[in-house]
Amino acid sequence: MSNLMGKVAIVTGGSRGIGRAIAQRLGREGATVAVHYGTNLGAAQEVVKEINSSGGSAFAVGADLSTLDGIQTLYAAVGSELVERFGTTAIDILVNNAGTSLGASIADTKEADFDALMTLNVKAPFFMIQQAMPHLRNGGRIIQISSAVTRISLPGVPAYSMSKATINALTLSLANELGPRGITINAIAPAFVATDLQAGMLQDPESYQFGANFSIFGRWGEPKNIADIAAFLASSESGWVTGQVIDASGGSHL
Ligand SMILES: NC(=O)c1ccc[n+]([C@@H]2O[C@H](COP(=O)([O-])OP(=O)(O)OC[C@H]3O[C@@H](n4cnc5c(N)ncnc54)[C@H](OP(=O)(O)O)[C@@H]3O)[C@@H](O)[C@H]2O)c1
Repeated sequence: MSNLMGKVAIVTGGSRGIGRAIAQRLGREGATVAVHYGTNLGAAQEVVKEINSSGGSAFAVGADLSTLDGIQTLYAAVGSELVERFGTTAIDILVNNAGTSLGASIADTKEADFDALMTLNVKAPFFMIQQAMPHLRNGGRIIQISSAVTRISLPGVPAYSMSKATINALTLSLANELGPRGITINAIAPAFVATDLQAGMLQDPESYQFGANFSIFGRWGEPKNIADIAAFLASSESGWVTGQVIDASGGSHL
């Protein structure tokens, strides 16, 4: 398939986990992919190499997403690479994937951890979209990674659940503003997906089983499961879908 030939995508947190699978998939579909990483240049380079060696096109871009300055630095770096390749800074697809978790009850949540979580999970996606607007072509796509804990009451993650609920609200709100330009914005809401973020649960047999039992299919999600949905949302075939939160939890807690 080469659904996305000629399109340009930015995937935040494309170096590992779900973002990596999304970057690889968009690359396979023909998009030129800017693979963002926070600190792990080596992991981002691996993804770039995989995409380039399978006939796609990608480059790595490191940026601290916690400040507007860092986000502007990201767009400057992406822009100069795109001008060199295509003579324009235009992009077609933004995937707001980078994020983290915080396993702590409300009583145990520390202010500094709360602030760091909200900075990466709430502030960064907001300003990533704001700064994308001058570059995003009409008919573009914004894909956000939310979480099924905005629908399911999972104990021990109140701040994380709250951070992802803001993604759902932003998705709904911006659909209106972006509609006239034919730009869609949707969120994907996974439950437990086997990535580094879940290393603790994956290594503990009881927690592993808890994660598997969450899904109606009795297993953990794979990054590919989320990338399949992102590929649809990035494609021209999803043009009549916007402002939605797509459950990607393997039928968890139906
Ligand atoms: N895994 C799950 O079960 C699950 C479930 C629901 C939703 N999600 C959401 O899915 C998204 C991806 O999660 P994942 O499981 O793939 O996580 P992951 O394996 O931990 O990967 C996180 C990615 O985000 C980047 N990143 C982390 N902190 C960053 C920071 N401060 N600044 C810039 N980049 C940063 C990392 O870059 P480096 O490689 O440079 O560190 C990495 O590429 C997150 O938004 C998460 O909340 C995950």
